Amino acid sequence: MKFFVDTADVKEIKELHQLGLVDGVTTNPSLILKSGGKITEVTKQICDIVEGPVSAEVVATEFPQMIKEAKVLAKIAKNVCIKVPLTLDGLRACRAIRNDLGRMVNVTLCFSANQALLAAKAGASFISPFVGRIDDTGSDGMELISEIRQIYDNYDYPTEILTASVRTVNHVKQAALIGADVITAPPATLRALVSHPLTDKGLAAFIADWAKTGQKIA
Ligand code: E4P
Repeated sequence: MKFFVDTADVKEIKELHQLGLVDGVTTNPSLILKSGGKITEVTKQICDIVEGPVSAEVVATEFPQMIKEAKVLAKIAKNVCIKVPLTLDGLRACRAIRNDLGRMVNVTLCFSANQALLAAKAGASFISPFVGRIDDTGSDGMELISEIRQIYDNYDYPTEILTASVRTVNHVKQAALIGADVITAPPATLRALVSHPLTDKGLAAFIADWAKTGQKIA
């Protein structure tokens, strides 16, 4: 399973990259706002750190303008993956970006299996179902991941399932059990994956016993 980090915070990305936890990055307009930077500059800084796909989102809602924006974003670096919304214009742009610009496309804001089917047919590199936002409505976001997995496997679609809107470490575990290709999670959630109280307790006991031996590993 690939781990993407869902942030435009360059410092966080650098730190997680050093830990070997970053196979790619996803950003969106809200995360760019939070970063306080200019989309082209922030995306360039991220691409200088991370070799894998770095999603940068178009904000236009109509096809011609989406393509114009995609061209600007694509120029930033070779690993920029253009993110488009799951609308009819977005799907048309997805096909054109893949065929004419030869770039990866992440189709975002997916909330149904049929939307995911359309994205696969449009040649999306990644589909981003938003599990946390589905959970917020009282439904089960992970059911959608299972449905998409089954549909993509039924037809051998190469589109990768990028589990997005991840809020908890349990989302990560469930996505891995279902067989999602990628999760994108906020830095804090990625870091929390390592935590277990018994690990902390066990380590404290080992350190205490080691001190009593008076030995050193030199
Ligand atoms: C990722 O591509 C999405 O933009 C992101 O995961 C959305 O997460 P949120 O629902 O926590 O805003």
